Amino acid sequence: MNYQTIKKDVHTLETEFEEAINNARDLKTLDSLRTHYLGRKGKITLLFKVIGELLPEERGKAGKLLNDLKKKIETAISQQKKNIPEAKKSESFFDSTLPGDKWPVGRYHPITSVLREIKSCFKGMGFSIADGPEVEKEYYNFEALNIPKGHPAREMQDTLYIDNETVLRTHTSPVQVRVMESQSPPVRIIAPGRCYRRDTPDSTHSPVFHQVEGLCVDKGVTFADLKGVIVSFAKRMFGSDMKIRFRPSFFPFTEPSAEYDFSCLICRGKGCRVCKGTGWVEISGAGMVNPEVFKYVGYDSEKYTGYAFGMGVERLAMLLYEVDDIRLFYENDVRFLDQF
Ligand code: DAH
Repeated sequence: MNYQTIKKDVHTLETEFEEAINNARDLKTLDSLRTHYLGRKGKITLLFKVIGELLPEERGKAGKLLNDLKKKIETAISQQKKNIPEAKKSESFFDSTLPGDKWPVGRYHPITSVLREIKSCFKGMGFSIADGPEVEKEYYNFEALNIPKGHPAREMQDTLYIDNETVLRTHTSPVQVRVMESQSPPVRIIAPGRCYRRDTPDSTHSPVFHQVEGLCVDKGVTFADLKGVIVSFAKRMFGSDMKIRFRPSFFPFTEPSAEYDFSCLICRGKGCRVCKGTGWVEISGAGMVNPEVFKYVGYDSEKYTGYAFGMGVERLAMLLYEVDDIRLFYENDVRFLDQF
């Protein structure tokens, strides 16, 4: 390397730069020009590094040449920056032709939405929300609900046992007992929550499912109040077309007991998979609280009466969203969940 070669290089770089700067119309190009010539590994920077290899009398001249070009490039770049209109400056950082980023937005699971809706309906009718454990004492799940030992509902095929006296609750009815134990009448609660049973999954059964329990105890509460609350709820949730029917039934913790059905909105009575061809969907059971249950919690059944009801949340969700297979709620396929 000698002074002559440096002079030649500087000349070439200068011509090359002049052309490049004239074509640089945005900040990004100007920035890369600066890096190309003056960056840490830039063309001029590298030439500065070889000055030491020149004859001592040539070093000064070469340094001046390089410094002049450096200054020229710096001035030209900052001059050119000023020429770029403001709008164009920000454009160089934001390419408006790129497709936008999709922001994934979370949403409530359909079962959660239905639970929220149910809660809001009952809150509007003066009920408050109660809670109980999912790992429950056999005493609350069965005994205090007047389900004696040896009752078919206690059999191993239905109930998941943790140990001899602890189960995964098979229904939300134990919350009734817990609430009555902890407060005196009047009581007006619903208890939403998860329940477990040893069921083989199919289109209408899932080993994990949700219920909402309802309980109202006061002086002079009758079966008519129970019907009124269920009918109001059904019409509020599904619209005034909804029909409700009660059928006589038996539950150890209510006397008299009933089961109640909502008309099938999926097939409008024609018969489908969800209503098993009957035009009606069984929602759950209900009845007047059995005085035997009051004995367990120390309520005076001469003074107070009460009604209780259960509700199958998945069944309501299937009706509301026209879903014909309960398993869809638990597979959590986003293509399914995305629709709600
Ligand atoms: N716990 C019952 C079940 O899981 C449903 C039920 C029936 C709840 C009658 C009630 C009731 O509160 O009064 O099948």
